[in-house]
Amino acid sequence: MIDLHCHLLPGIDDGPETLNEALDLARAAVADGITHSVLTSHVHPERYPNQRSNLEVAVAAFAAALAQAEIPLVVRTGCEARLCPELIDLVADNQVPFLGEVAGFRILLLEFPHQMVPIGSIRFISSLLRMRIRPLIAHPERNKTIMAHPEKIREFTDAGCWLQITAGSLVGRFGEPAKEAAITLIDQGHTCLIASDAHDLNNRPPLLSEGFSALRARFGEAAAHAMAIARPAQIWGATPV
Ligand SMILES: [Fe+2]
Repeated sequence: MIDLHCHLLPGIDDGPETLNEALDLARAAVADGITHSVLTSHVHPERYPNQRSNLEVAVAAFAAALAQAEIPLVVRTGCEARLCPELIDLVADNQVPFLGEVAGFRILLLEFPHQMVPIGSIRFISSLLRMRIRPLIAHPERNKTIMAHPEKIREFTDAGCWLQITAGSLVGRFGEPAKEAAITLIDQGHTCLIASDAHDLNNRPPLLSEGFSALRARFGEAAAHAMAIARPAQIWGATPV
């Protein structure tokens, strides 16, 4: 499986602090059946001033550490970009790593603030789409506004956004309201996929298989395959298996 959203790099955001913790996360991902991970460290100028230049160096060092530890996980530089005014300049400076490219659109993992959907978000997102950047909205099922009013996501998906549901949300790791919101968003028929958003082994582990199983039980084999296997592979640029 391909994980498009995880925080495995050590000491760079709120993911693992040490290399040993990071390698343990990678081992857990591989044990779960994950073969490829886009390392989506936070790009959030106020809290985590990461950008392409430092992230690519960190990912290269981590890839070397994975090889040395004989952990068969293929990694790629990505990011989880916070929706903020500075993002447009970072994009213009080519400092925002994308997850991949599909049909001429670069795919950007975009995070709203957790408590709300900022006024003006749709204008911002429309600007990105005009730049042929398609936002993949990170974990909308955990956003307080969307949890309370799932129909509010439609403005964004109608504009062209895709949705990344957290695998753990589907099995209740983020509580019942997030689980219900995840199911509602999928039921609404948006283009959805799952990813782990791994940060640590205990609370936010690098697991996709449990989400895949939950999808299969609730929505059937074909829909589960689309959300857990085929769409992530399309974005990575790999043949789904
Ligand atoms: Fe994340």
